[in-house]
Amino acid sequence: MTQPVQAFNNRFSQLLSEITDDLGGYLRYIKGLGYKGVAMSDESVRILERWGKGFLAEDLEMIRNDLGECRRCKLYKGRRHVVFGEGNPRAKLVLVGEGPGYEEDIQGSPFVGQAGQLLTRILKSINLTRQEVYICNIIKCRPPGNRDPEPDEIAACTPFLRRQIRAIRPKFICALGTFAAQTLLETNTPISNLRGRFHTYEDILLLPTYHPAFLLRNPGKKRDVWMDVQMLQEAYEKT
Ligand code: URA
Ligand code: URA
Repeated sequence: MTQPVQAFNNRFSQLLSEITDDLGGYLRYIKGLGYKGVAMSDESVRILERWGKGFLAEDLEMIRNDLGECRRCKLYKGRRHVVFGEGNPRAKLVLVGEGPGYEEDIQGSPFVGQAGQLLTRILKSINLTRQEVYICNIIKCRPPGNRDPEPDEIAACTPFLRRQIRAIRPKFICALGTFAAQTLLETNTPISNLRGRFHTYEDILLLPTYHPAFLLRNPGKKRDVWMDVQMLQEAYEKT
């Protein structure tokens, strides 16, 4: 199934870029004639922006459909819901956690348990709402008893997260906790050494900070997270 779809996408992208080349030539031609522009809906502008990149860009819905009732790793056996992620598909900031816990597995939404409530308050402290950002996790299914995700599970799941981030094209990523930070930055450096400054992930500024669940157990670390998110707010409000 996947390979014919890929071949179709490749051929389709090629055709699209031929069309956009033609269209580009035509627009330059009418500009030469003195036209100042063409009337277009916001949606058409967005579609053209994507075409202009010369490939068939995916949106979150396409990625969600491809994920489906995923059985690419063993976690499907114990999960109730795939927790894909939620929020603004054009968010400037994407927050990435570890994986769904008990509540998230039941509700199918990320960060809705106790740690999630703390995350909502942290966002509020920097004038952000859950609706304007996008919230997701490294892995999309709850590991049994909330154990750490295993390498084969991460390997099966992270391609979807990477595609989500490419579809959203945020300016900032906030990696919550060891797991998200180390996975996205492909490092074993401890979170305590990674946090507090921006790194980059595919040209996107990535700020690691402690996970809200860790803060619930270690309230003494709240100050560090406070400083991290202040730094994020300052950069966010400038762009
Ligand atoms: N912890 C996470 O890492 N992600 C969630 O969605 C909830 C708790
Ligand atoms: N360990 C974690 O897993 N996360 C943190 O945020 C800090 C320590």
